[in-house]
Amino acid sequence: MQKDASPRGFLPSFRHFATQAIHAGQEPEQWTSRAVVPPISLATTFKQGTPGDDAGFQYSRSGNPTRNCLEKAVAALDGAKYSLAFASGLAATVTITHLLKAGDQVICMDDVYGGTNRYFRRVAPEFGLKISFVDCTKTQSLEAAITPQTKLVWIETPTNPNLKMADIEACARAVHKHRDIIMVVDNTFMSAYFQRPLSLGADICMYSATKYMNGHSDVVMGLVSVNSEELHNRLRFLQNSIGAVPSPFDCYLCCRGLKTLQVRMEKHFKNGMAVARFLESDPRVEKVVYPGLPSHPQHELAKRQCTGCPGMVTFYIKGALRHAEAFLKSLKLFTLAESLGGYESLAELPATMTHASVPENDRATLGISETLIRLSVGLEDEKDLLEDLDQALKAAHP
Ligand SMILES: Cc1ncc(COP(=O)(O)O)c(C=O)c1O
Repeated sequence: MQKDASPRGFLPSFRHFATQAIHAGQEPEQWTSRAVVPPISLATTFKQGTPGDDAGFQYSRSGNPTRNCLEKAVAALDGAKYSLAFASGLAATVTITHLLKAGDQVICMDDVYGGTNRYFRRVAPEFGLKISFVDCTKTQSLEAAITPQTKLVWIETPTNPNLKMADIEACARAVHKHRDIIMVVDNTFMSAYFQRPLSLGADICMYSATKYMNGHSDVVMGLVSVNSEELHNRLRFLQNSIGAVPSPFDCYLCCRGLKTLQVRMEKHFKNGMAVARFLESDPRVEKVVYPGLPSHPQHELAKRQCTGCPGMVTFYIKGALRHAEAFLKSLKLFTLAESLGGYESLAELPATMTHASVPENDRATLGISETLIRLSVGLEDEKDLLEDLDQALKAAHP
């Protein structure tokens, strides 16, 4: 990890990032045609010379040439030895959880994506796993929650939708005092461009690639990176045994999305910062949460741990639910929709949309109120975005 701050105060960008995004795993020489763009290999099966004599692929669930190119590119971008692709972010989560057995305990960050919360709360316990939700922004709380049964620690940083940050290095130090606990960081919000959890001590870095990694809102996919050969072998076995793999076409699209990850994330950061500053100075807004703002409680940690911030901005509109609804209904450029991380700007109300499955009491504790609005700031012109927010705030507070 490079420790020197860049002029903007965050860590400098990871070296060779853009070059690797374009070239790693894409070598034309791997194809007899020397195609510069990896072909979409739709074949489900591959010819063997004699039984067992294959060219590296046997059956498309266990391995596919296009998926292979994507996995190599992602490993390079995460500074990892290995990467694996899955049919969705949740498919990756489920496959990772299959590393455990009945009786094991999972410690999950309290403020995580609603679907992750739902899986750990309502599905995993059916298979005998014990789940504790813990505020991992406090390393002492994480340490105190660890028991001899703890086998997996699941951290999302920044969290969704509250953008709380966990100190990955400190959490990894606490977790690795104990043998056999795997620490996962869901790196969806930061993407590989802004944060490298493996170099900070995490065992597994995972993504909903549906978001920034693909970045074009046209692929549902999960990605997982690891450095340990043993963990890689176990996950590779599970990837094939469970079978939640992405299609070759989706792998092609995601590989293409990665080529512009660097330029996209830089613009998301610029637009996100502009939106956060605009909202923070607006009297119709109660509070803005954005790790790039000095007002964020963990702004210093963000600067120490990340190379920048994505386009995710959370804010509380003044008033009540009706004000939030009027604002969301009046947006013209921001689309009212779930998901995030695409080139287009989106807005949503987590309490009734992405986080509706989180129990009401937990939502109250986490501050996911009916006035909390989550923005995924896209790549449009900054001025147009600010004008749209301004007119929607006017409609909410005439
Ligand atoms: C932080 C985070 N992790 C995981 C997921 C789940 O990923 P997917 O929707 O690709 O299954 C999401 C989806 O919104 C997410 O935001």
